[in-house]
Amino acid sequence: MDAREMKIKAAAAALEHVEDGMRLGIGTGSTAEEFVRLLAERVAAGLNVVGVPTSERTARLCVELGVPLKSLDELPDLDLTIDGADEVDGNLRLIKGGGGALLREKIVAAASARMIVIADETKVVETLGRFPLPIEINSFGQVATQRAVEKLASTLGLTGDLVLRVRADESLFMTDGGHLILDASFGRIPDADALASQLNAIPGVVEHGLFINLASLAIIAGPAGARVMEP
Ligand code: A5P
Repeated sequence: MDAREMKIKAAAAALEHVEDGMRLGIGTGSTAEEFVRLLAERVAAGLNVVGVPTSERTARLCVELGVPLKSLDELPDLDLTIDGADEVDGNLRLIKGGGGALLREKIVAAASARMIVIADETKVVETLGRFPLPIEINSFGQVATQRAVEKLASTLGLTGDLVLRVRADESLFMTDGGHLILDASFGRIPDADALASQLNAIPGVVEHGLFINLASLAIIAGPAGARVMEP
């Protein structure tokens, strides 16, 4: 089974949790897009759901495939969010934001009664941090904010490069909200809870990709099929 087939398997298993009438948060990334494709088939066959997309990219795909959408302001209480992840640990703590959509993803997940993570087994880790942690920052004072993040990291014993994300053409990557992203290659984050709360206290940090206590279930697909992880 190749990587795409595993993503489809996880997405198909998540679709079984979707019920008629649900208000759905819809994630971002290649795994979430497989979910959108399967969801669109069910919608075409008569399933009645409304989605709130976590990015402009996901919104475009939903519109193209006929999945009905509303904004989070129109639907502020969601039943279920289904989204991918860059890393998942045994307590369902996540690193997200590889696609740059972490802010909207976190707002949507927090507005949902449940969040199901869909991923292939390469995303499961013992300790978060192998994947560079995306930190969304305001462009005003970006150097000062980066210094504050470096200082915090060093007080927590974390080392590694912080790199401002750029696009393929070397221009600065801008999020849907018009912010920048610092990718922090810490390697291993032994106390993700402490890092998460202390990053939130830095004024120029808009949001970070540590998702703590948000996922209720993870569906992890491997060559032998999909398995469920609970916190
Ligand atoms: C988007 O910002 C991310 O949080 C994605 O959910 C994450 O990068 C997973 O993407 P893939 O499913 O493409 O690996």
